[in-house]
Amino acid sequence: MSNSSVGAESFATQKVKKAKKRVRVAIIGCGGISETHLAAMSQIPEFEVVGGCDIKPERLELMKSKYGMTAVYEKWDDLLAEVKPDAILVCTPNGVHAPAAIAALNAGCHVLTEKPMAMTPDECKAMIAAAKANKRKLVVGFQFRYHPTSQMLVRAREAGEFGDVMFVKCQALRRRGIPNWGVFGQKELQGGGPMIDIGVHVIEMAHYVMGSPKPVAASGNCWTFMGNKPSETLSPWPNWDWKTYTVEDMAIGQIRFENGAIMQIEASFCAHIKEDVWNFTMMGSKGGANWDPPGIFSDRAGTMVNTVPSFLPKADFGELFVRKLRNFAEGVLYNKPLEAPGEAGYAVQKILDGVYRSAAAGHEVTID
Ligand SMILES: NC(=O)c1ccc[n+]([C@@H]2O[C@H](COP(=O)([O-])OP(=O)(O)OC[C@H]3O[C@@H](n4cnc5c(N)ncnc54)[C@H](O)[C@@H]3O)[C@@H](O)[C@H]2O)c1
Repeated sequence: MSNSSVGAESFATQKVKKAKKRVRVAIIGCGGISETHLAAMSQIPEFEVVGGCDIKPERLELMKSKYGMTAVYEKWDDLLAEVKPDAILVCTPNGVHAPAAIAALNAGCHVLTEKPMAMTPDECKAMIAAAKANKRKLVVGFQFRYHPTSQMLVRAREAGEFGDVMFVKCQALRRRGIPNWGVFGQKELQGGGPMIDIGVHVIEMAHYVMGSPKPVAASGNCWTFMGNKPSETLSPWPNWDWKTYTVEDMAIGQIRFENGAIMQIEASFCAHIKEDVWNFTMMGSKGGANWDPPGIFSDRAGTMVNTVPSFLPKADFGELFVRKLRNFAEGVLYNKPLEAPGEAGYAVQKILDGVYRSAAAGHEVTID
């Protein structure tokens, strides 16, 4: 069995009427995604939101006026020392994940950090070491492994329906969707562009569904051809900050795993394709699968059969956050298995880093 504790049964039984024990949680980085966390936590009685930290006073004002947050700080050291939360959600730009998480862990807090886990594998290692040293939980905000389709495919793999998983193709492709808020175009604060920002999600769920094999080599390339220039093309995501744009527009990578399996990754903010794609396909020796639309392809009774679920629970963006936060709360309070522990974030970070290193080197690189 893998650690897929969030199966169909536990989704149905997870509603808690009244929490006996609560997690006093605070947020570092009160920007856009922190509001999705706050909305999700309002549905989870195990959380009590006790404070927030942001370098922007206007975000702290909004936290006070919209969410009734009273303990707000511009420095996380002050938040940690004065509020002494049980847990911290790190929702800053990627480059701040590691220092904020390590400070929180060293202050005795459990930590959920948003994706990607950090900017580099070394930062992930330091975060895991801090969690171990302080005996605290460290979780990465990989919500797509809580998706009912991902969970269904894990159960199918565990039941042997795919045989040996040989190949997975991950696609996180927007036709014209360069983020037009935050610092997503700034490499020194984010570590990269679509590969680390959106590719990470499809990689995390595909790697999880594959059974988390160990990556050993990477080959890939990155291109910047649109984001660093002004554009007059009509688009649903207009007016990004092209002047500060230093990340890639598109990254293509191939990962070799210790067991011989291969993962191909395509990630772009602005690919010239017919429409956006958010999917992975998988090929095994006994069966294959597609994530969206969900399907399992195999042979049965001497026939090639396509199996599609007749029911899967609803799981929009907000619901996936409820599931990942509930898993975090249950891990902290009841020591339940974590679906996305720091080690999972570290493995995914090695994949991202391998593609970027290969792109810079111009040849395949090994992954330790
Ligand atoms: N899981 C998901 O689906 C998902 C979706 C969107 C964003 N994210 C992740 O969440 C993180 C934040 O993204 P966002 O869209 O909320 O960006 P954002 O720019 O809206 O918010 C980030 C906030 O962090 C604050 N900040 C920056 N440095 C800080 C510091 N040193 N101390 C305290 N606060 C600081 C900023 O002022 C800003 O308010 C990123 O890592 C991103 O990848 C995850």
